[in-house]
Amino acid sequence: SWTMHSFIDTTVEEIRRKVGDDRVICALSGGVDSSVTAALVHRAIGDQLTCIYVNNGLMRTGESESVLRFFRQKTSLKVIDVDATDYFLDQLKGVADPEEKRKRIGYGFIKIFEEEAKKLGEVKYLAQGTLYPDVIESVEFRGKAPIKSHHNVGGLPERMQLDLIEPLRELFKDEVRELGLELGLPEEAIYRQPFPGPGLGIRIMGEVTAERLNILRQADVIVLDEFKKEGWYRKVWQSFAVLLPIQTVGVMGDGRTYEHVIAIRCVDSKDAMTADWSRVDYDLLGRISNRIINEVRGVNRVVYDISSKPPSTIEWE
Ligand code: XMP
Repeated sequence: SWTMHSFIDTTVEEIRRKVGDDRVICALSGGVDSSVTAALVHRAIGDQLTCIYVNNGLMRTGESESVLRFFRQKTSLKVIDVDATDYFLDQLKGVADPEEKRKRIGYGFIKIFEEEAKKLGEVKYLAQGTLYPDVIESVEFRGKAPIKSHHNVGGLPERMQLDLIEPLRELFKDEVRELGLELGLPEEAIYRQPFPGPGLGIRIMGEVTAERLNILRQADVIVLDEFKKEGWYRKVWQSFAVLLPIQTVGVMGDGRTYEHVIAIRCVDSKDAMTADWSRVDYDLLGRISNRIINEVRGVNRVVYDISSKPPSTIEWE
């Protein structure tokens, strides 16, 4: 559209003027916000931009591979990747408190990112996909403390003495998607549901272990798969699985089982500030439930979350 064209022209011009001959780094997650940020900054300054992808071991099945494959094969962005799976799992050992998890994952991210960035030598700017709702939810709002410590790259700019480039800070998600399409990113990259920085780490209630990640990943793939098959994936804001910290009794054959519970969370929203639980098709839920219970070893019950935000939040932690 005309407005997006002129937004791109103006922003590209601003970034060029600000950056000059200096170098910029960007934390690429594969999500819409960081992808569009990277594409926009790249349009402005080309190879002066280097992206860093940190695999925190809390991604969905196959996610890191597919994100890296996409950027390397379909774009000309420079992308460095680091696999820090072991480091993060180690940091999360014995930690059950949600804010403590967020803190450790956020801190770990900064540490790894900083180490990689230092290897690049002189860098002056950090490009970040902060959107308008992030600005509002993360800062102290009406004198109240922030609800959750949202994990982007908070703290990093000061530590590394980097100046910020945040070209999306006045935009909402739907505008970012429009912008991304205009920049030539494919629909598969643009119509991805939001995924939190702390990843599956905040969708496992209680301690995050390799074993529990394995259970959640298998359930998560089934949810994703079924939502995509029926065209529901793009109709809702988010749809995902959460692993609960309790076991319940079930029956299989003539034996008693005592196993994990998966909750399905699915919401409609415009900007994540408020959300309503999605009235999805019962048959879709039925298929997901059957598949999870039959295919994921260690799960014998699936429940559907019918809470709205507020007073609940979208993620469970
Ligand atoms: P809540 O759970 O606060 O989530 O209703 C609002 C939206 O933000 C996503 N989310 C995050 N995104 N870093 C992110 O980049 C985070 O730490 C984080 N926590 C939640 C969540 O998935 C939802 O879309």
